[in-house]
Parts: sequence; structure tokens; C-alpha cells
Amino acid sequence: MHLEVEVERILPGGVGLAHAGGKTVFISLAAPGDRLRVRVDREQGNVLFASIEEIIAPSPLRIEPPCPYFGRCGGCDFQQLTYETQLAAKAEIIRDCLHRIARLENIPDFVVTPSPDDWRYRMRATWQIDREQRTVGYYERGSRRVCDVVDCAVLRPALQEKLEEVRATEWSQFPEELKHLDVVQGENGVSFAPAFDRFETSELSLTVRGEVYHFNAEAFFQINPSLLGPLIDFALADASGESVLDLYCGVGLFTLPLARRFKNVVGVEANAAAARYARKNLQRVGLANARVITATVTDWFRNDPVDPVDFVLLDPPRAGAESAVIKGILDLRPAAISYVSCEPATLARDLKKLIAGGYAIDSIAAFDLFPQTHHVETVVHLR
Ligand SMILES: C[S@@+](CC[C@H](N)C(=O)[O-])C[C@H]1O[C@@H](n2cnc3c(N)ncnc32)[C@H](O)[C@@H]1O
Repeated sequence: MHLEVEVERILPGGVGLAHAGGKTVFISLAAPGDRLRVRVDREQGNVLFASIEEIIAPSPLRIEPPCPYFGRCGGCDFQQLTYETQLAAKAEIIRDCLHRIARLENIPDFVVTPSPDDWRYRMRATWQIDREQRTVGYYERGSRRVCDVVDCAVLRPALQEKLEEVRATEWSQFPEELKHLDVVQGENGVSFAPAFDRFETSELSLTVRGEVYHFNAEAFFQINPSLLGPLIDFALADASGESVLDLYCGVGLFTLPLARRFKNVVGVEANAAAARYARKNLQRVGLANARVITATVTDWFRNDPVDPVDFVLLDPPRAGAESAVIKGILDLRPAAISYVSCEPATLARDLKKLIAGGYAIDSIAAFDLFPQTHHVETVVHLR
């Protein structure tokens, strides 16, 4: 089925919204104000999922996507928008989730801090590998086929160089079972997981706001280093006191600065490599007032008696915090909570529970850690 539509705005998930014949239409890779001829790919109840067949009249907010893989590669879905429009769309996505999912009426004003680099910013990536097709790159949009990428315009130059090195490697050197490669860049090189041929899981470091973090490609580290200072500043604000929990703490991005402000810090992290690095990062600078537990946050709340705390910082993955974690936090009743999130929809779902449990939103800030995609990092302070 084909339709002619006008795109009204960008919705959570990054799709354009239009209406036609009493139906709601979600269109991938659209710009607000576009007049489009679209093909309906899928229908679910009153919602049609569509892709662009022809741009009848482009929105003034639309630009020519500079990347030759755009549309096919599943990596970037905002390259068709000017950078200002991307930022405005992300603010609207956050507001939409807070309004529709968290049922918030009075949403505090906030800004989305732009990334200093809107291209060549990524210091971490996962490259998919298809031995049979001899392709290296990212999954194609909506598929498990690997889009063969020669040059990825959002990779930092050192990672782009490594992509070229991996691509130039003899296929006989690729281990049979190698399906994807995690890569991360630090100040002193690039680390790969799993290691193969000459690509090693080397230890790296990165300094943010004077703290040195060690990590490797087996542990989570944030994708965009240029906004980590402002992210930490806002997430911690003026927090200080006796005791704090840093849930989903990774290699300790927030744990180290928290350990300088609180007497007792407990970090919880499920990934053993990340938890090991968090301990090492604390130990190296003599921060003995923080301990890091290797466990899922749910298991930790279930199995360990948790002492009262003044402040909880949580930074879960896209799926958000498990119900048992929100309940665990509500049972603890910290005076303040800082929720760092990379997915506005699950953030809003969890905020709804925290607000029902007696907390109120104090302030919000967002950081564009992921230019050229619909993803955005949001921090919410609750009291
Ligand atoms: C968004 S990252 C944040 C890490 C850290 N706060 C940072 O900014 O670098 C989420 C972290 O949660 C960890 N994780 C995922 N699921 C978890 C769970 N159920 N319990 C504890 N940690 C988990 C991941 O390994 C990852 O390190």
C-alpha cells in the first residue's frame, strides 16, 4: 500500500509521525515537515509502519545525509536532519516520554547539550562480521545482514583506522566463531574483544575531570568522551554526605568522583571485567572508602542487607531498572536520587514508579552523546 503524507514531528524511537485515512503512520528516516510518498511495510491495529518511497517536498529541516550507507546501515537514523533539528527532536522525545509514559504534567525546562563533535565522535563500537559474505560493519536496518562499511563517519579517526586494518586482514586469520568485535579507544590505543590475530584486548586509560579510568573492550565505557565531564558534573551536582549507592557502576565513571564526596560508597556492577576495573581504578588513587560488588542489582538487593544511604545514582542499560531495583530504592528512601539514562522510554516508566513512591522531579538535563542517531542521554534529579 502507498500513501501520501506530511510528517508532523519525530517520535520516541526516532520515527516520523503522520496521519492518513484515520490511521497513525510511523515513517523511518523522515524529517518534520516532509511531504512524502511512503510504502506501508507493516500494519498493527491502527498503526502503519512505513518507509519513504519518494520525497515530494522536502522539509527545510532536511539535509542530504552525507554517509553513503545511510538508510541501509542500521547505525544512524538522524543523518537526514540538521544538527539543530536533531537536538530539538531529542528534547521532544524526552518530553513526550515524560508526558505520555510518566504522566508528568509540569516538566521542568531542560536543554540537550550538543556534542562538541557531531561527526567522528565515537570511541566505542561493535563491528559485525560475516565470514561467508566477507563483510565487516553494522547490521542493516531491521535485519541481521551485515552492511559492509568501509568508512564509518561517526567513528573517531583512530577507530576508523582500526576498522580499515581489520578489513585488510586476511580472512584466514579470522577465527571461525568470530561473529562480532567490540572495539574501544582510550588515550593510549585501541582495545579489541575478543582478541584475534594482532588485535589485542589491551588495557586503556582515559582521564575525565582529573580522574583516570582504566578499562578494556570487555567492559562498558561511554561512547562519546567529549561530554563526560558535563555529564558527571550534572549527575553529581552538589551531592555529598555519609553514604551513596552507584548502581550499574561500570568501571567507576561516577564511583570515583562520588568516593571523593561521600564517606562510604557502594558500587554494583554485573559485568565482572567492568567491576574489576572499577576496583582497580579506585585502588590506584587510594579511595578505600568505596567497594564494588559484582552482581546484578536485583540479586544484590535480594541477597544483601542494604544499609541506609543519603544518595542513589543509577545508570542502567537501555532496558532501564528492574522492578525489584526500583522497589529496593524506594525501601531505602534516600534523600536524593540521580537517574542517568540512555533510553527516555524506560526512564519515564521508572520515574512513574519513583514518583508514585513519593519522589518529585527536581531538575533534568540531557546530553547528546549520540549525534546522528535518535538516542540521547538524560539525567533526572529526584527528591
Ligand atoms: C549504561 S552502563 C553505565 C556504566 C557506568 N555508570 C558508566 O557511565 O560508565 C550500564 C552498566 O550496567 C551494567 N549492567 C547491565 N545490567 C546490569 C544489571 N542487571 N545489574 C548490574 N549491572 C548491570 C553493564 O555491564 C554496564 O556496565
